[in-house]
Amino acid sequence: MSDPNIRNRKIEHIRIVVEKDVDFPNECSEIYDEIILIHRAFPGIDLSDVDLSTRFLNYELSAPLMISGMTGGDPLTTKYNKKLAVLAEEFRIAIGVGSERSLIIHKDEAEIIRSYKVVREIAKDVPVVGNIGANTLLDLRNEDISYIISSIDADALAIHLNPAQEAIQPEGDTRFNARILERIEEILDHIGVPIIIKEVGNGLSYEDVSLFYSMGIRFFDIAGACGTNWILVEKYRQKDKITTTIADHLSSWGIPTPVAIIEARAAAPDSFIIASGGVYDGLRAIKNIVLGADLNGVARPLIREIYLRGLNAGKAFLEMMIKEMKIVSFLTGARNISELKKKPFILSSDMLSYLEQRGIDLREYKEIRGGI
Ligand SMILES: Cc1cc2nc3c(=O)[nH]c(=O)nc-3n(C[C@H](O)[C@H](O)[C@H](O)COP(=O)(O)O)c2cc1C
Repeated sequence: MSDPNIRNRKIEHIRIVVEKDVDFPNECSEIYDEIILIHRAFPGIDLSDVDLSTRFLNYELSAPLMISGMTGGDPLTTKYNKKLAVLAEEFRIAIGVGSERSLIIHKDEAEIIRSYKVVREIAKDVPVVGNIGANTLLDLRNEDISYIISSIDADALAIHLNPAQEAIQPEGDTRFNARILERIEEILDHIGVPIIIKEVGNGLSYEDVSLFYSMGIRFFDIAGACGTNWILVEKYRQKDKITTTIADHLSSWGIPTPVAIIEARAAAPDSFIIASGGVYDGLRAIKNIVLGADLNGVARPLIREIYLRGLNAGKAFLEMMIKEMKIVSFLTGARNISELKKKPFILSSDMLSYLEQRGIDLREYKEIRGGI
């Protein structure tokens, strides 16, 4: 398993998501605008009553938020993981690392190991989530998987599914066959921490979630098509003209975040659902919770703030997110997450038609959206 480009790629990805416009069109603002929460002129509570703390992987978080897995794997990434970990620890929110494939390829390189390890060293009191590509599992031994978990003392392992990204990536690995399911079965009991099945920005469908749910997996990060668009990110790295044209044609491919939340919760009512993909403000984050998510994941805005303006800008972003989440919760009259999950929501006729065509009954869905 050699991939000489992997270190460069890590840096290029950060540079591209910071410098280029690689989000889905309008970051799904039309879809989010049409999801309406009901304003309460008399919320029946004080703003100071709102407490959005939540449990995730046996930790108490101050808010239903996580810093989604992004980086590690090159010494140049250490400074970013360090700052992200400072934010996670300070705000008491969860954090993931980026794909740990480099840890196996560069097994004895202390600087590479450090680029990941630094996260756990700093983020001591919050959940830390490891990360590996589903296709990479085909090349790893069970000991390798134990190693990537233990090296950062991870509380869970996210296995990412990114077929759209790999199909456009110049050095893409497009193996996504049933053998991967066998590998996941093989490691499920072996690794000792929960597996989170995760997309990277094109969304998990009802079918995907059902499949992994039937294998016993109960954690999903739907990473929907509203934020960072990996088809466009890889387009910037691709020199082949035919593939870049295809990337343009597919630039809005995927399941938007709010839709993927409903697909996932309908397929896996008693699971823990993380919503990432364009969760760029507190209003969206609360809409996601009301729709059925348990936690929100944020990636691009944080790396962008840190890269361009430094740690304090990252802090300001998270302060804004959390304060906005509290205010929106207050305005719906919800004191906490379990009350939010019972609050009404209105969907557009397009969304209703979509759900009907997907065989999801909204009345039944409203009964289970808070989890069972
Ligand atoms: C620079 C960068 C690197 C990423 N690397 C990974 C990765 O290695 N593994 C993974 O599962 N997701 C990765 N992601 C995807 C994020 O975890 C997240 O699911 C996705 O970007 C959607 O969130 P966003 O719209 O807030 O960026 C990466 C995202 C960014 C911005």
